[in-house]
Amino acid sequence: MDKEKTKDRIRFIQEFLKAKGFGLQFVCSLDNLAYLTGVRPLAIERLTLLSIPQEGKPHLIVPKLSEQEFLHLSSLFDLLVWEDGQDPVVLVQGELKRLSPGLPLAADRGTPGYLILALAKNLPLGLILFNEDSIKPLRQIKSREEVELLKASGAIADEVLKEVREFAKPGMSELEVASLMITEIMRRGAVADPSIPIVASGSHSAVPHHQTGPRKLQVGEPLLIDFGCVFQGYHSDVTRTFFLGEPSEEFQRVYQIVKEAQAKALSLIRPGIPLGSLDEAAREHIKKSGYGEYFIHRLGHGLGMEIHEEPYVYSGNSTLAEAGMCFSVEPGIYLPGRFGVRIEDCVVVQEEGPLLLTHFPK
Ligand code: CO
Repeated sequence: MDKEKTKDRIRFIQEFLKAKGFGLQFVCSLDNLAYLTGVRPLAIERLTLLSIPQEGKPHLIVPKLSEQEFLHLSSLFDLLVWEDGQDPVVLVQGELKRLSPGLPLAADRGTPGYLILALAKNLPLGLILFNEDSIKPLRQIKSREEVELLKASGAIADEVLKEVREFAKPGMSELEVASLMITEIMRRGAVADPSIPIVASGSHSAVPHHQTGPRKLQVGEPLLIDFGCVFQGYHSDVTRTFFLGEPSEEFQRVYQIVKEAQAKALSLIRPGIPLGSLDEAAREHIKKSGYGEYFIHRLGHGLGMEIHEEPYVYSGNSTLAEAGMCFSVEPGIYLPGRFGVRIEDCVVVQEEGPLLLTHFPK
């Protein structure tokens, strides 16, 4: 990521702080840190914190062992380095000096509870507010470079699905399938998100977030695969439901309904449409077909540096789609104890219609 981008993003946040009367923004979420600095700290207990005042240079509190990863940013941030054995909370307390009296501190969701409690000794708890509205609008609208990375991530997912279609055979366990998928992802220069792949065979496909396990694939059963990869920090997310052998009539019917529901929602995507109406269109179709009570989750979630992020696509959400937003469209029907079908693709909203990030046949 180039420094100009970092500068722009920090400037946006500082304008927000001024406009909304926040004195300081703390950023601890690893995704927010990666978005603002271009560097993703390792997900461990050592504290990395970006402290952004209304004006002036932000401070980056960073553990000694990560210092060199951030050194190239020293013209933009003052690095406050702490070493193992030191207490970084002392450095964070020092940041409160930059907070004008009476102004609230904005903390993002990654700010650990222990830190908030420590700060509350020096600052009334009422002045420590959760706030990500300074970062959310930025992250929600993907830049051209970000869209390129999302496309590349989706293309890898498509290739891996092709492999799965080849190697997934009756007798293999769900975990075996997942491990082969992870290998295929890594061979292509990406990594797997730790929460997936979801490999759900047979009745497991009726559990939307099934925990991939030792169950063996069998002929005459569905196989639901929900996965993605992370390519240069950007996620893909795609679901296909296969059938091993000859699908029953009921499976085919349910599959068709889910596919149509997805197509309906996809056909409506354009800037200006309320996100809720996409969910409502897909839900209406499933309801009309008699399976309304078995579509038990929202239609979609935003995608970017996180597998689930803003915006969320659920009934009643009046947020309007904007060019550059990226989210999943993933209707499903889940018949408990029997089988489930979900079809998922992610799209980027564009003036000329949705840009699909995955293209594997469905
Ligand atoms: Co998803």
